[in-house]
Amino acid sequence: MSALFSPLTLRSVTLANRIVVSPMCQYSAERGEATAWHMIHLGSMALSGAGLLCIEATAVEPDGRITPGDLGLWDDVTEAALVPVLAAIRKHSSIPVAMQLSHAGRKASSHAPWEGGQLIPVAEGGWLPHAPSALPHKAGEEPPLALDTAGLNRIREAFAASARRAARLGIDALEVHAAHGYLLHQFLSPIANQR
Ligand SMILES: Cc1cc2nc3c(=O)[nH]c(=O)nc-3n(C[C@H](O)[C@H](O)[C@H](O)COP(=O)(O)O)c2cc1C
Repeated sequence: MSALFSPLTLRSVTLANRIVVSPMCQYSAERGEATAWHMIHLGSMALSGAGLLCIEATAVEPDGRITPGDLGLWDDVTEAALVPVLAAIRKHSSIPVAMQLSHAGRKASSHAPWEGGQLIPVAEGGWLPHAPSALPHKAGEEPPLALDTAGLNRIREAFAASARRAARLGIDALEVHAAHGYLLHQFLSPIANQR
């Protein structure tokens, strides 16, 4: 058997093969809540035969959404919205389900890619992002708020609270999003800060 199609055990989770459906932002949530789109999208991916399905970047607090359409898991309402999606997957598929927890940092409050991806100013319904420093994502854009100790603690707790909610939902594995120039990556890379 090829390595690709051989099982892989990661602590308590066994993948039937090494193919993983990447987390893919859908920008189709409402107030962070999963919609019928998530049922269709994740439902179809759950029937793909992959070894693991990872739910898209899921914001740990409203301010951490890349766009207003990002999925979230920060309160009882956003948690409840995922219950039927996961129930449908569980009913029709044995695929393990992971979730990517994320915070967009200075890349928050942006338009969806198909609308250009630029910052949505507060005056146009956006919000002031929080970031490691008050450097704007793009020259000329409104700068984000620099996180202080209380803000860092709040975000750390938000990651922990979302992880607990994910466990309650029966999510099998979590991935912390520390790439693509989002909050955690912004602490790691001066280049990501300027992109
Ligand atoms: C529609 C779309 C949405 C994506 N959303 C996410 C995301 O939520 N989180 C993430 O880490 N990567 C995201 N990515 C990046 C993919 O996970 C992956 O890293 C990228 O497509 C490169 O992998 P590939 O060379 O196998 O295509 C997204 C990619 C696409 C095409």
